[in-house]
Amino acid sequence: MDSVFIGSGPSGLGERGFVRPGCRTFAPGSSSLKYVVSAVALATLSLAPMSYAAEDTAADRASATVKQMTAEEKTILTHGIMPLPIFPHSPKAPADAIPGAGYVAGIPRLDIPALKETDAGLGVTYLFGARGDGATALPSALAQASSWNPALVREGGAMIGGEARAKGFNVLLAGGVNLMRDPRNGRTFEYFSEDPLLSGVLAGNSIVGIQSNNIISTIKHFAINGQETGRKVVNSKLADAAARESDLLAFQLGIEIGNPGSVMCSYNLVNGEPGCASEYLLQKVLKDDWRYKGFVMSDWGAVPGVEAAFKGLDQQSAAEFDKGLFLAKPLADAAAKDPAIAARLDDMNKRILWSIYANRLDSDPSKPGGKIDFAKNAKVAEEIAKQGIVLLRNSRDVLPLAKTARRIAIIGGYASVGVPSGGGSSQVQGEGGAVASIPRPVDGPFAALAGLNFHRSSPMNAIKSLAPQTTVTFRDGTEIRDAVESAKKADVAIIFATKWSTEGYDQADLSLPAGQDELIAAVAAANPNTIVVLETGNPVLMPWLDKTAAVLQAWYPGARGGEAIASVLFGDTNPSGRLPITFPAAESQLPRAVIDGFFEYEPDFFGLVPEARANGLTADYDIEGSDVGYRWNKRSGQKALFPFGFGLSYTTFANENLKVRGLDATLTVRNTGPRSGATVAQLYLVSRDGKPKQRLVGFQRVELAAGSSTGVKLKIDPRLLADWNGNGWTIAEGDYGFAYGDSAETLGPVVTVKMRARSWKD
Ligand code: BGC
Repeated sequence: MDSVFIGSGPSGLGERGFVRPGCRTFAPGSSSLKYVVSAVALATLSLAPMSYAAEDTAADRASATVKQMTAEEKTILTHGIMPLPIFPHSPKAPADAIPGAGYVAGIPRLDIPALKETDAGLGVTYLFGARGDGATALPSALAQASSWNPALVREGGAMIGGEARAKGFNVLLAGGVNLMRDPRNGRTFEYFSEDPLLSGVLAGNSIVGIQSNNIISTIKHFAINGQETGRKVVNSKLADAAARESDLLAFQLGIEIGNPGSVMCSYNLVNGEPGCASEYLLQKVLKDDWRYKGFVMSDWGAVPGVEAAFKGLDQQSAAEFDKGLFLAKPLADAAAKDPAIAARLDDMNKRILWSIYANRLDSDPSKPGGKIDFAKNAKVAEEIAKQGIVLLRNSRDVLPLAKTARRIAIIGGYASVGVPSGGGSSQVQGEGGAVASIPRPVDGPFAALAGLNFHRSSPMNAIKSLAPQTTVTFRDGTEIRDAVESAKKADVAIIFATKWSTEGYDQADLSLPAGQDELIAAVAAANPNTIVVLETGNPVLMPWLDKTAAVLQAWYPGARGGEAIASVLFGDTNPSGRLPITFPAAESQLPRAVIDGFFEYEPDFFGLVPEARANGLTADYDIEGSDVGYRWNKRSGQKALFPFGFGLSYTTFANENLKVRGLDATLTVRNTGPRSGATVAQLYLVSRDGKPKQRLVGFQRVELAAGSSTGVKLKIDPRLLADWNGNGWTIAEGDYGFAYGDSAETLGPVVTVKMRARSWKD
């Protein structure tokens, strides 16, 4: 295995020449870190890296173009529309607009192309059926993250970016990297993980893939956007140091690796300031400290007023969603009066142009009508689904199933027709649209986005085709007695349990809805070989767990989810997914008993809570600070139902021989079982100077033949050992304990290393 790695920056942070523009190798103090890139991964991806020269040229060209702009032209790129007649006051879409999430007019006189924007990170969305086309749905970001495979996630990004381009779009509103501070957040499925390293690395790689198509990707929603309830009014409270070590670090890594052309600021307030008018976030953190060169676009309807531009916002997206068209005339008027604002306006244009030029939107324009090889793209989605399925339980080695099983009873989850997907602006629909759609009670223009939609990939058909001699029956699971009868007659019962998640709504709890817990308990009591396949957008509680033979977490598995699930069930794919999020044993383990406002406000797709209550709606993230997910459990001494990093295989692995020297770690991973498979080497910081402190500091997925072993090299990003000191990072002198882990809770022997004190600027 010639693929070695990493720590913070697998395969996105690389040597000069590979690094995308604006992507800095990390250099604390004087010693710069070199990141070793997987040669295998790069060879198979053939992405076209942008050189530093191209970046410099883009900056020079942007400055030159701004000099040629008239005062009127300077407020063209600074605002956009949604080119769809969804409100009575929606502006008429120009002839060159494509129905999609956004459109920003270009300036033909200066050869500046229009920005044609579509959602999102799981593929090109269908958007009210306005275009009537289909696209390839990737598995949810949570499923992608379960692969812990940056190169594969990058391939997924390249695929969806290619489809966006073929449909004529040049901006993909992707890169959802918010940390999962509450697993009940309705958008959990759109984000990668609860850990800043894993999230940042994966989001960054997805963005590299997307932008390899010469289109822009966003990274979003900046920042600390942790709940959907009252999403436009909720105040995320989180102290600077904790934010830098958690949510902001995920963005920072994602930006360093992916170099997205744009950052989308968030709806929520951050420590009292609107995300899209937060000088702290947009100017201080992003542009000053991180030296970000691209532009900040607002989320749809997130701009409070023209002052947002003075605080660091560069573009008002879909301005008809806001109370006014702020970044047009009001901005021009302010710039005419105040030279500082005029300079800011020039900077806004430069940033947008830099991103256009650096990503070659002008010289290599997207055009509608490009060819899409759906069969090929579906294979990418299928591979990600296979690597993202997590085997949580496999009692008596009931899995993999023999293809000669006589009778399989499949129950529930619409498994006869397809696999579920998450709702909201990231909703992708395949060719021909959803195979089944369960409407939800949502009024208004967003109703079409807020149903439970199933992709055309039937697990039942996939099971039948892998085991043609088996008699397969299907029951929809609505009648427990009927389901139990069918399970009793079968050798194996497979229950598909689903839970719908969507943008706009949080979840009341972590339970499976609609009597599915009772159904599973009854079927498991009737047939000892009961296997549960979970298709959910977030972790769920499993009161029936020890009654079942096996549990697979398949998430929302995308365009070929059914095939991926069947492949794992029969062992054609040896499961290798590992949880990127903690599965709590009870909601009481979470830092907050309930999501603030959840039981007060009617869910509303766009979070248009009319008035925040007098004392405000607060997501108090100071409770856990930077200790999100498994770190919170460690701090509060709690055991998860299934911990972060956990996942079983049909073979077994052993980690051995951990050595840490400075920021370099090595260990050996051995396949000790009977078949080939993949695992994830996980390295954790477990203590600093004798005090417990847990952080994932490195990881690598490794594939190993039965009986073979490999050395893994991990490069630790020093920020993962450090504390934010208010002005930069500090590693305090002392003994640092490290351990490899099969998960965040099952750790190997601790190796202690002395670290010297050091501090450095971001
Ligand atoms: C979402 C964004 C999305 C935008 C455009 C917003 O409501 O928060 O993630 O990109 O809509 O559809």
